[in-house]
Amino acid sequence: MLTTKIVTIERFLLDTQPDYARGDLTALLYDLALAAKVIASQTRRAGLLDILGFADNVNIQGEEQRKLDVYADDIVVRLNDHTGRLCSMVSEEREDWIPIPAKYPKGHYVLVFDPLDGSSNIDTNISVGTIFGIYRALDDERRGRLEDCLQPGRDMVAAGYILYGTSTMLVYSAGQGVHGFTLDPAWGEFLLSHEGIRFPEAPKYYSFNHASAGRWSKPMKQYVDWLSASQTPILSQRYLGSMVADFHRNLIHGGVFGYPDEYNKPDGKIRLLYEAAPLAFLAEQAGGYGSDGKGSLLDIRPTHIHQRTPVFIGNRNLVEKAEAFIVGS
Ligand code: AHG
Ligand code: MN
Ligand code: MN
Repeated sequence: MLTTKIVTIERFLLDTQPDYARGDLTALLYDLALAAKVIASQTRRAGLLDILGFADNVNIQGEEQRKLDVYADDIVVRLNDHTGRLCSMVSEEREDWIPIPAKYPKGHYVLVFDPLDGSSNIDTNISVGTIFGIYRALDDERRGRLEDCLQPGRDMVAAGYILYGTSTMLVYSAGQGVHGFTLDPAWGEFLLSHEGIRFPEAPKYYSFNHASAGRWSKPMKQYVDWLSASQTPILSQRYLGSMVADFHRNLIHGGVFGYPDEYNKPDGKIRLLYEAAPLAFLAEQAGGYGSDGKGSLLDIRPTHIHQRTPVFIGNRNLVEKAEAFIVGS
């Protein structure tokens, strides 16, 4: 007889969310789980786009199929704009922040998200993911404002990602550890598969794009040399070009992901609000750390929604060593 407890994401959220978060925050996470299922089913068919020509992937002019990251953006917004749980959203795919339409009730939370991270990898069947962060509105009495969207990561109430890989996983934290759920495609349910994820003490990987090394500062080159030469046991280098997948691998096996500044990219490439900060929040909750090379990514107050930042995220000792090379130089 099977005795393993089957815990759906709904049951886990209801059992573990503190009282203040029961209700809207729990429902919002569940709404995101639904968006994840829709996006997962579509990304799984990505290789068939040319053959099937999905009807709902045709743009207004009826000419081109929409890119999957635009599709994912649309799904998240459409599943969340009318629920009365949000007062505003920010998406990588939209230039401006997204107010809740006046015809719908407004809620107390702000959702920031990267609909598909690593999307340039889709045509080669490499894992991509949706990254999200959730904040509380600054003023419950007012409708959403830009200020609501420009809060430091430290004030996040929850963050997570959905990884569309060999299986679809939802990994999230609402401030009480990091928990992972795997989608059972037959049941259409996310089931608890990784409770209380922590970075392993002994890391295995470092993830930097070495093709950029010629554009790194001297301390950065020294740091990556240190990562490659000074570890026992030796670290392996793995880099997918899909930060969410690189982060997930390093979370499970230990390691550090980095996207430093380069002489022609003074702030690096990664966006603070909906890429770096949510992963830094998860990292801290898993015993790790996320830094811009000088201090915690969670302490940076964004001044605009698409601002970029250098990023170092993973096992705390490896990230602090990046700071030592950079700040000490
Ligand atoms: P996105 O697909 O949302 O634009 O993000 C891609 C990001 C990140 O996922 C990845 O780590 C990085 O771009 C890769 O950039 P390089 O090819 O310059 O290494
Ligand atoms: Mn991205
Ligand atoms: Mn993206």
